[in-house]
Amino acid sequence: MDFKPELLQLAAQHGTPLCIIDHDIIRENYRIFKKHLPRVQCYYAVKANSTQQIIETLFKEGSSFDVASYNEFMQVYQYIRHFEKDQKKYFVWDKIIFSNTIKDRQTLSKIKQYKPLVTYDNIDEVKKLKEYCNTAGLVVRVKVPDTGSQVEMSTKFGVEPGEAMALIDYAFEMGLKVEGISFHVGSQCTNFDNYTQALSIASDIFRESRKKGYGLNLLDIGGGFPVPYDPQVPEFAKLASLLNSEFKRLFPEDIEILAEPGRFIAATTATLVAEIIGKARRDGKIFYHINDGVYHTYSGVVYDHWIPNFHAFKEGPTEICAVVGPTCDSFDKITLSAELPGNLEVGDFLYTVNIGAYGTASTTRFNGFDPAKIIHKNL
Ligand SMILES: Cc1ncc(COP(=O)(O)O)c(C=O)c1O
Repeated sequence: MDFKPELLQLAAQHGTPLCIIDHDIIRENYRIFKKHLPRVQCYYAVKANSTQQIIETLFKEGSSFDVASYNEFMQVYQYIRHFEKDQKKYFVWDKIIFSNTIKDRQTLSKIKQYKPLVTYDNIDEVKKLKEYCNTAGLVVRVKVPDTGSQVEMSTKFGVEPGEAMALIDYAFEMGLKVEGISFHVGSQCTNFDNYTQALSIASDIFRESRKKGYGLNLLDIGGGFPVPYDPQVPEFAKLASLLNSEFKRLFPEDIEILAEPGRFIAATTATLVAEIIGKARRDGKIFYHINDGVYHTYSGVVYDHWIPNFHAFKEGPTEICAVVGPTCDSFDKITLSAELPGNLEVGDFLYTVNIGAYGTASTTRFNGFDPAKIIHKNL
């Protein structure tokens, strides 16, 4: 279906830059995830896009959530606040995992009352948990291969597999309870070997800890599920079928499996429309200056190593153009190689699809430019 007329109409109505979030796509992505991974509970990684309406739509669908900070915790907690007191522990774990392995002391003190489920990957974190949040259930995060993933994780997070058992022992010695094991294979993981290796590492630790009588019962396979940004990206269904057979082969029936997809749920839900506010030829190349850039919705180009896409509404002979943001910083170049019509003028629009993850999330107000206006479709 040609959705260009609708985008143009919305841009005329609301102004630009305009970010359009389609909630039917959020629901669809969630349902696809559940359909292909029926054994896995989905904890949407709020960091990918923390727009409150996205959280609400997913909550209504039955999703749970992975949060990284106290503020994200509260963005979700408001929906379970009303549950009965004696059900609260169950509901908090069922709905929220705090999967930032490093939490400051103030945050731990504040979340202690909620008996949260949290990840950890080092001894100092155990000490902090003991002192400031001893009500927590712990999930040890293990370092796993992230080869070829768009965003790697293992240089900053995860205990070495060979040291995981000692870290589990240590938490129990401190009187805390370890509930399970987690990992993250890196974001936009198209190399599915990362998942098989990670599952094998996790299952070894699982087996050993069960032998010791620790009763771990939770496996958290993190995020990383790839989005079809381009046709080369291997299909999610293939990954899911691999995961399902590895779950069966490596893990007992009675364990709970959860995942923290962020990008997979959020990326394809948003489209951005921006206006060309300037046009110049520099060293022979056309530079389209638009009213959104790498300090704003295109921040994923910097932080997420994301390759942006640009589409024009007008047709015309194309050439390789640069598309740059509105700020005075020369770093604010979104791309130097977009194939676009050369006949676009100031006042024309460009649009970008699949910009829902890690874009709005890290937008700033640099140079005094407001972030794009967000509107919701099919809310
Ligand atoms: C702990 C954790 N879980 C889940 C995610 C979401 O990953 P993705 O967007 O690749 O699904 C991230 C991303 O940074 C993360 O750090």
